Amino acid sequence: MSAVLSAVHLSKCYPVYRRPSDKFLEIVTRRKHRTDEFWALRDISLEVPRASSVGVIGQNGSGKSTLLQIVAGTLGQTGGDLFVRGKVSALLELGAGFNPEFSGRDNVYMNGAIMGLSKSQMDGRFADIVRFADIGPFLEQPVKTYSSGMFMRLAFSVAIHVDPEILLVDEALAVGDLLFQQRCLHRIHRLRQDGVTILLVTHDLSAVTRFCQRCILLDHGRMIMDDRPDAVVQRYRALIFARQQEQGEENSLDPSADAEPEEPDPQLAPVIGLPAMDHRFGDGRAEVLGVELMDPLGRARRELFTGEAARVRISVRYRAELPRPIVGFTLRDRLGVEISATNTLHEDYPLPPGRPGQVCTVDFLLQLPHLAPGAYTLSPAVAQGALLKHEMCDWVDNALHFTIQSSRLVYGMFRMPAALRHRVEEGVARE
Ligand SMILES: Nc1ncnc2c1ncn2[C@@H]1O[C@H](COP(=O)(O)OP(=O)(O)OP(=O)(O)O)[C@@H](O)[C@H]1O
Ligand SMILES: [Mg+2]
Repeated sequence: MSAVLSAVHLSKCYPVYRRPSDKFLEIVTRRKHRTDEFWALRDISLEVPRASSVGVIGQNGSGKSTLLQIVAGTLGQTGGDLFVRGKVSALLELGAGFNPEFSGRDNVYMNGAIMGLSKSQMDGRFADIVRFADIGPFLEQPVKTYSSGMFMRLAFSVAIHVDPEILLVDEALAVGDLLFQQRCLHRIHRLRQDGVTILLVTHDLSAVTRFCQRCILLDHGRMIMDDRPDAVVQRYRALIFARQQEQGEENSLDPSADAEPEEPDPQLAPVIGLPAMDHRFGDGRAEVLGVELMDPLGRARRELFTGEAARVRISVRYRAELPRPIVGFTLRDRLGVEISATNTLHEDYPLPPGRPGQVCTVDFLLQLPHLAPGAYTLSPAVAQGALLKHEMCDWVDNALHFTIQSSRLVYGMFRMPAALRHRVEEGVARE
C-alpha cells in the first residue's frame, strides 16, 4: 500500500528575537538581527499509508500543531521534504480557514470552494452539513459571535463533508460537548473505513487508543516513538511521570493526608511472580513482587464470568522508607483502553509506613461489572505519597492477562444493571 503522506527529515525552525524590539529593528533597518533559533520540529520522518489513522501526542509545545500545519500547507517547513498525495481537509487549532465576519452559511460555501467543490455540489451537501453541525439559527450569524464549541461543530462538519482524502484534526474535539465528541469520533471511524487517512492530534489518550491504529509521540520537536497506540501512550505516561519527578512538585492540598493506617490481616499469603510485563517504570523505592487474580475464596483464576466477584492480590517489597505507601492497579481491555483503576488511598484504606525489606500484600475484593467478554489485563503499581501527588516507585504494565466469559451479548464495554417496568393499554377512552 503506497503512502499518501511521507515526511522526510522534516524540520521547522522559528527565529526567536531576544527582545521584542529587535524584530522592529529588523523590519526598519532591513538587516538580519539578533535572533536565536528555535526548532519546533526536528528531523521528522514518517510514512502514512492510505486509510490509516495516526494519533499524534506529546506535551504542550512539543510540535504537534506545527506538524499538522505543515501537512495542511498553512505553514512552510525549514528543511526536509513532504509528499502529500490526496486532498487535505484540515481542522486546525485556530481559525480553520473561517472568516469571522461572515455568516456560518457563507463560510460553509467559501470552504467548499477552497476545497474545489462547486456551488451546486455544495448545495447538495448543505443540509447534511447543517444537520451534523446542529447549531440552529446561529448558521445565519457572523462566525465571530460563535462559542468555540459552535465554531468547531461547523468547522468539523464542513471538513468531513468536502470529500477529504486526508483529514487532519488538531485538538478540535476537546471543545465540543460530550455528545458531539462521540459523534465526531464515530464519524472519524467511518471515514477511515471509507478510505480516508486521518491524523489526529489530541490530549485525550483514550481516544488515541480507541481510534488510531498507530501513534507517534513528539517531544521537544522530535519524534521519539512511532508504534501501536497503547505502547506509545504508556511511554508518554512514563515520560510525564519522570518530568513530574524532576520537578518534585509538592501538593499539600490532599484530603488523604492525615488518615489513620488500617490493621493488617495475617491470613494473606504473599504472591510472588509477574506472569507478564510490557513495560516497567518507577524510582525503585519499592517493587511489585507479584500479582494474582483470584476468586473470592482465594483460588487463582485466569478466566472469570462476567459480573463475578473477584479478588486481586498484589505483593510489594519496600526497598526504602516509605512514609505513605500506595498500592493499586489498572484494569485495561485488549486495546489498552483503561476500564478502571483503583488503589488503597482511593478506597480510603491507608497502608502503614513501609520499611526496607518488608513485604506488603494487599487484597482488593471486587464486584466486577458485567464486562464485555474478551481479554483484559491488570497493571499493578506501588507508589509513595498522596492521591493528588505521589511518586511512582514501581509500575508494571500489563502484568497479568485474563479473559472474561459471557453467555450473553454485552453491548459496549459493560452491561448496565437495569430494572425495567412497562405498561400497555388497550384503547384508553378519552373524556
Ligand atoms: N510563530 C512562532 N514563533 C516562535 N515559536 C513558535 C511559533 N509557533 C509555535 N512556536 C513554538 O513551537 C513549539 C511547538 O508549538 P506547537 O504549537 O506545534 O505545539 P503543540 O504540540 O501543538 O502544543 P499544544 O499541546 O500546546 O497544542 C512551541 O514551543 C511554540 O512556542
Ligand atoms: Mg497544538
